[in-house]
Amino acid sequence: MRTKVAIIGSGPSGLLLGQLLTEAAIDNVVLDRVGKDYILGRVRAGVLEEGTVGLMDQAKSGAHMHAAGLPHHGFSLAFDGRDHRIDLYSLTGGKRVVVYGQTELTRDLMEHREASGALTVYDAANVTPHDFDGASPYLTYDKNGITHRLDCDFIAGCDGFHGASRKAVPQGAIRTFEKVYPFGWLGILADVAPVSHELIYANHPRGFALCSMRSETRSRYYIQCSLDEKVEDWSDARFWDELRWRLPENHAEAMVTAPSFAKSIAPLRSFVAEPIRFGRLFLVGDAAHIVPPTGAKGLNLAASDVFYLSNALIEFYGHRSEAGIDAYSQKALARVWKAVRFSWWMTTIMHRFPNTDDFGQRLQEAELDYLVQSPAASTSLAENYVGLPY
Ligand code: APR
Ligand code: PHB
Repeated sequence: MRTKVAIIGSGPSGLLLGQLLTEAAIDNVVLDRVGKDYILGRVRAGVLEEGTVGLMDQAKSGAHMHAAGLPHHGFSLAFDGRDHRIDLYSLTGGKRVVVYGQTELTRDLMEHREASGALTVYDAANVTPHDFDGASPYLTYDKNGITHRLDCDFIAGCDGFHGASRKAVPQGAIRTFEKVYPFGWLGILADVAPVSHELIYANHPRGFALCSMRSETRSRYYIQCSLDEKVEDWSDARFWDELRWRLPENHAEAMVTAPSFAKSIAPLRSFVAEPIRFGRLFLVGDAAHIVPPTGAKGLNLAASDVFYLSNALIEFYGHRSEAGIDAYSQKALARVWKAVRFSWWMTTIMHRFPNTDDFGQRLQEAELDYLVQSPAASTSLAENYVGLPY
């Protein structure tokens, strides 16, 4: 089998890239280690920057997102027992974000891909990139006990943090940067109306909490927890009590509870690989970088990588120019590092760190106070939250 672009991974990165290429009449095949139901069973982030919304439209997959997504013009930073609203819309001259689950976005892209007739190979085991240093790369994979070969012009490694593409790069050719945080997030979904119509990021002496949502009837809530916590030790009652503790009183009193589902604990990590292009292999999205979820940047960074790479490939096939391909790593990483900085900073100001001394605690309080009192500081937060330009 032969295609122009072989895409490893059927998450948001791989599917968005695939649809943008298909719309530009560039033949591509997507392969994933697991099946469709497994992919759609994963609960992930839910805040889209305008750039991500625009790419979904360009991929002709934005209809449901526009119908069901919730435009948000601001959010609350809660500390000292009260809300401090960050008015994204006025601070950024009219920009906003759209709250729409990654699971739904993935489903929209999958459905559109199926309708367009492009090929996806699910349950492909041992996917391995070969010869990406030369002009004729190819992939091998196993399916139903048979080893297949897929020849291509380019390989896009969209296979997440634990995927095969980054591992295929010789160790001496790649440099990685990593920071692991000393806590995790315990998250739940519940079919109750969100406690507030905007997101609440709360800094409390008992730890960080986030009130988010998937719709007007489904809430997504998180609390900071230590890394040795076990999900089984968190009954719903314990979760709701802890969440209420960490919120300003008006929200704690208004909170509606219900049985939760999709309860899980995720560690927090920052990670960047450099470079993210190796001959004819490109790393995209979580395969190339991870950010802690505090700034809601993971999915949006995957989208900006896809923006640079899809344009580079369209330029290559349209004009036989390699300029975009040569610039991909540097351009994408310049934006990635700014989002890595923002996510690290937001994580630092919003969480309680286990070994912080009194001095560190006062600095955090001063930083939060400055952030909400100073229009310059609030503007910087808002500009990063809605997404830096591509
Ligand atoms: N072979 C084939 N497919 C693989 C392999 C492999 N060896 N390893 C992983 N995959 C598949 C996974 O099954 C998954 O479907 O690659 C896909 C990667 O998807 P994601 O992990 O969702 O990564 P990405 O598409 O880059 O999405 C960006 O943004 O909000 C964040 O972490 C969040 O998933 C989100 C990410
Ligand atoms: C979510 O809704 O899952 C969510 C929202 C904002 C974040 C992180 C996660 O910063």
